[in-house]
Amino acid sequence: MLKSKDQRERAVLAQEHWHAALTEAATARNKMTTITFTLGVRFLQMVLLMVACMSLAEGFVMDGANTTLQARVQDLESMLVGVDGRLAALEAFQSECGCKGSVAVHSAFMATMANSLEHCTKNQAVIFEDVKLNIGNGYDNRHGIFRASVAGSYAFTTTLSRPPNFSYHVAFVQNVATNEISYLYADPINMWVERSTTVLTHMAAGDEIWMVCISDSHITGNLNHYAEGAGDFHSHISGFLVGAD
Ligand SMILES: *[C@@H]1O[C@H](CO)[C@@H](O)[C@H](O)[C@H]1NC(C)=O
Repeated sequence: MLKSKDQRERAVLAQEHWHAALTEAATARNKMTTITFTLGVRFLQMVLLMVACMSLAEGFVMDGANTTLQARVQDLESMLVGVDGRLAALEAFQSECGCKGSVAVHSAFMATMANSLEHCTKNQAVIFEDVKLNIGNGYDNRHGIFRASVAGSYAFTTTLSRPPNFSYHVAFVQNVATNEISYLYADPINMWVERSTTVLTHMAAGDEIWMVCISDSHITGNLNHYAEGAGDFHSHISGFLVGAD
């Protein structure tokens, strides 16, 4: 069945419209794809940016912590330098004073004479029975002997009283009764007399010091006729370690 010329022309037109519509649709679809792709890329960019920002922020925090840590390490280092210096000074002082490794020794005693010695004979020990102080237990009040626990310099003092017209002649001795290291005397005059002497001596560990009478002597002990014990100190002895070797 043949179509009229008019019909054919309209068919061609319709076909052309259809093609145009198809092309338009295709273009539109391409545009959509492009837009979708662009949006996707943008989204991806944003995510990447966020990750980057987060890493950066974290980096700053870590950086801050590192800075603090470094500062503290530097502080500790300078502190150690200071401690090192002080330790060196201490060691220098120790070797200078000769006290490196030694233990401080405290030795001191004091004792008073309780019973008067009315006839103390030559080489007889002068005994002070009433112990007032005995740090280190160096003094033995049974024999009146002080024994050194460590080698060093020691100081000893004695004060002796006697009644009018009596006399005493005594000496500090070291290790043997004839080895005098100090002397004290009072001649027989008509008054009470109280005299003192001090001696410094070096002692080896185990050395002994005591007092002996050199000739017949009278030494006054506690008299107990004063209130508050004042009469208890007519005669006494004391000693102490000045410094260990
Ligand atoms: C001491 O001796 C003198 C002279 O002999 C004498 O005059 C005096 O009374 C005596 N003193 C005492 C307290 O006995």
